[in-house]
Amino acid sequence: MSELTMEMIDIKVPNYVKHHGLIEWVQKIANHTKPNNVYWCDGSIAEYNNLCNQLVEAGTFKRLDAKKRPNSFLACSDPSDVARVEERTFICADSKEEVGATNNWMNPDKMRGILNELFEGCMYGRTLYIVPFSMGPLGSDISHIGIELSDSPYVAVNMRTMTRMGKQVFDILGTDGNYVPCVHSVGKPLADGEKDVAWPCNDTKYIVHFPKTREIWSFGSGYGGNALLGKKCFALRIASTMGRDQGWLAEHMLILGVTSPEGKKYHVAAAFPSACGKTNFAMLIPPVSFNGWKVTTIGDDIAWIKPKNGKLYAINPEAGYFGVAPGTSHKTNYNAMETLKENIIFTNVALTEDGDVWWEGMGEVPENLTDWQGNPWTPQNGVKAAHPNARFTAPAYQCPSVDENWDNPEGVAIDAFIFGGRRSNTVPLLTEARNWVEGVYMASTMGSETTAAQVGSQGIVRRDPFAMLPFCGYNMADYFQHWLNMGEKLQTQGAKLPKIFCVNWFRKDEEGNFIWPGYSENMRALKWIIESIEGKVSGKEHTFGISPTYEEMYWSGLNFTQEQFEQVTSICKDAWEQEFKLHDNFFASLGQNIPQTLLETKQMFSDKIKAI
Ligand code: GTP
Ligand code: SPV
Ligand code: MN
Repeated sequence: MSELTMEMIDIKVPNYVKHHGLIEWVQKIANHTKPNNVYWCDGSIAEYNNLCNQLVEAGTFKRLDAKKRPNSFLACSDPSDVARVEERTFICADSKEEVGATNNWMNPDKMRGILNELFEGCMYGRTLYIVPFSMGPLGSDISHIGIELSDSPYVAVNMRTMTRMGKQVFDILGTDGNYVPCVHSVGKPLADGEKDVAWPCNDTKYIVHFPKTREIWSFGSGYGGNALLGKKCFALRIASTMGRDQGWLAEHMLILGVTSPEGKKYHVAAAFPSACGKTNFAMLIPPVSFNGWKVTTIGDDIAWIKPKNGKLYAINPEAGYFGVAPGTSHKTNYNAMETLKENIIFTNVALTEDGDVWWEGMGEVPENLTDWQGNPWTPQNGVKAAHPNARFTAPAYQCPSVDENWDNPEGVAIDAFIFGGRRSNTVPLLTEARNWVEGVYMASTMGSETTAAQVGSQGIVRRDPFAMLPFCGYNMADYFQHWLNMGEKLQTQGAKLPKIFCVNWFRKDEEGNFIWPGYSENMRALKWIIESIEGKVSGKEHTFGISPTYEEMYWSGLNFTQEQFEQVTSICKDAWEQEFKLHDNFFASLGQNIPQTLLETKQMFSDKIKAI
């Protein structure tokens, strides 16, 4: 270390922090990054309000109209910092093989060298916020603690909504508890007297994970999953490696409860890739014709699933929703709109003349707006007023459909898994796997068209196994094996495994219109799934699973013809021969560790397709 870095920064440790390892770590990071100030977040509402006011003063936040959107703010990011950066995301395990073909890898020592240089003095002129948080209910034995050191007050306030954040965490940590250390910098030190910008960030970006030491380092971005490190970095990438080692699952899944008119309650976990409908499905309101059916929300993005007494129990490790705004309306997602009434941070949506927010798909198009980049906007502009990956940060308890057990440390027992991609063609509306192995096969080979949730081109089909392509912290082939092992272990304990289903809401007709009405009408698929669990429907078996017949589906209140149903469920031989070739290529690209069982399943399916 240079002489400069030896300088001691006053880290002002509060008397309730008694963890010496943690204090030493904070001191080391502060000395290295050289913030002007150090602030320990206590998680109080007063602190939240203070920080929001500071963000307003700094120009990062605009306060929205107090009547229309009480206690809510709009942040507009730098146009270069709008989504997750998968190309810049690294898993630094000891060997390349451990992270597999789907992750970027760098030798840990080499990466530490790079980070050391990048972080040296990177917080100069800023405040270092110490953000203590729990993923999962405080004190629950399935929860885990993280501490994020960040020079972004935007991160601090978002973390308060998205996690259980505050000084109570230090009581749980005590003098020597475990935590995941997360270091985050926007990467824009300020020279003495230099004026800050509204959204500081850096063109150089690194989102780095060290699974062995369970550390996260993030540089250069202030946005979403790049910066709110409890979310994708901890709760998925690091947690998936913990799950591999300890026998549980960290998944990119919503969790919902569904109650039938007879009052029987089931729990479903569903994995759809980013911006493919998890929030919508988790908050679904059944169509009016579904008398007595009820859907309740446990989580909308991440599930931690642990086996206990022959069942799989799931918790939502988060405390809020960081949801996609565009496309959200009272028609498509009533519960989300109600959740968004107050106490919300909006990022990259448009601002109305009367101090409220707007985005594409919300409803009536206003005549005049300020777009997400701060420019005057009219419907004639021809550009989008909100960024396609604009998001809201909302407290989970504000959701009208929030499940009574959303916060229950025990979690809820999962009855079914659903996997779904965004596919304009080929993949049918609903398929039930005949067994666990075939279900794991379907999830492993799932494809989906890319969305605005990640930087890069959109609408391109890529394999997104289990919707975990950007989030699995280790070798994807080993992850498949882990899923197979979980099933086998439960089965040998005599457990009844959750059924596995695949869905696709996104098939299009020749004109490019969605054929399936989607949104609340997805309840029709969910009802069939529940009835299949109850043994009330048996569907029709085909090459790679079982699909509902037209007669078995409940159509009351919807005009959807047998012909349209045929369009969304048809299995085209040519398209599927092509699809299995893509599976082949994908498995080949994953290297040596693909479980033999999955290779055999693939062979069996492609032989069957050829034979029809
Ligand atoms: P992440 O937060 O990125 O992980 O995404 P998510 O899976 O929670 O996505 P979300 O529910 O926010 O949906 C994203 C987009 O998909 C929105 O624009 C929705 O309007 C659209 N969408 C959701 N459900 C449906 C559906 O059933 N049909 C169609 N056509 N679009 C849908
Ligand atoms: C996703 O991209 O899947 C998200 C948003 O849920 S972010 O937190 O930015 O990763
Ligand atoms: Mn997500």
